[in-house]
Amino acid sequence: MAKVLFVNACVREEKSRTLKLARAFLAEYAALHPEDEITERNLMQERLEPLYPDTLELQESLLAAKQTDHPMFEVSHQFTSADRIVIAAPFWEQSFPALLRVYLERISGVNLTFYYDEDGVEHGLCKAKKLLFITTRGGDFSAPEVQWLELGASQLKVICHMFGIPEFRCIAADGLDIITNDAEQIMAQALERCVEEAKTF
Ligand SMILES: Cc1cc2nc3c(=O)[nH]c(=O)nc-3n(C[C@H](O)[C@H](O)[C@H](O)COP(=O)(O)O)c2cc1C
Repeated sequence: MAKVLFVNACVREEKSRTLKLARAFLAEYAALHPEDEITERNLMQERLEPLYPDTLELQESLLAAKQTDHPMFEVSHQFTSADRIVIAAPFWEQSFPALLRVYLERISGVNLTFYYDEDGVEHGLCKAKKLLFITTRGGDFSAPEVQWLELGASQLKVICHMFGIPEFRCIAADGLDIITNDAEQIMAQALERCVEEAKTF
């Protein structure tokens, strides 16, 4: 039985097109892997706080004392112990909503998601071999010449490298708010890709 963690950062909730894609992926995955356990972490309900001075101080003192069993690290342990991770978030301000950024801040830490060896080299500590990021974008950032403007998927790819997750996958529906585009058709193609991805994820 594999533990699948679904991190839901789809702020528009049931109106979210990103969530629609994620649900299609998860439904197909669940049908193909009934033995796996899928756990959803809903960041809208959770309302995690960023690392304000007092929280950061507490985090640093606990980590220095190697007290990683403190409840504040539950969010991190859940992430590092998952076998598969799916994150769904819309494209906001060329990246993703702040609540996903806060989540990343709250899971990350020395001896939690990564450690330094005696030569000072960083190594990841996550169990997951794959992370799938599902997103939808108003503009179209799929062409190579504009990919540098995309800071959501690219950021998560770097985070995977930092946390020791070898394979980063991304399904993006681009250009949904460009009025000359057929948004329904773009979504239909992305839904197909989600169903396909579930077969090999
Ligand atoms: C607060 C906000 C910020 C956005 N920022 C961008 C942006 O920087 N670039 C872009 O192409 N689209 C942007 N969009 C459009 C969304 O990426 C697009 O509508 C997406 O499909 C929304 O996903 P959802 O239906 O899952 O909420 C933004 C939308 C919102 C609500």
